[in-house]
Amino acid sequence: MSVPTARRRRVRPMPKIVFVSPDGAQAELEIAVGTSILQAAWDNRIDIEGACEGCMACSTCHVIVDEAHFDRLPDPSDEEEDLLDLAWGVRPTSRLGCQITVTEELDGMQVALPTATNNQM
Ligand code: FES
Repeated sequence: MSVPTARRRRVRPMPKIVFVSPDGAQAELEIAVGTSILQAAWDNRIDIEGACEGCMACSTCHVIVDEAHFDRLPDPSDEEEDLLDLAWGVRPTSRLGCQITVTEELDGMQVALPTATNNQM
């Protein structure tokens, strides 16, 4: 028996995102499409500050994206690039976690929290 269309629950895809902590520990999480990396981190007790709560007024949500997925992200805005200039531990694939929205194309993406050496990616 099929369920009438109006009663079907719409299920959002849940791509896997791997968070890499400064100590190298990894957490693979299923994150709903449309969620920001910052919100996903907060929802899963990943230690990203996000002092301005996604208003792009700080750079405390800085993450380093793996090279394979970096090119799948939309280009950063001028404001994001200006804030990344102020962040410490910036790498060529750095982004602000509050500006990355999870999409199906990002399935398997690794995001590392910056460290003094950033050598885990
Ligand atoms: S949380 Fe402040 S810029 Fe992302």
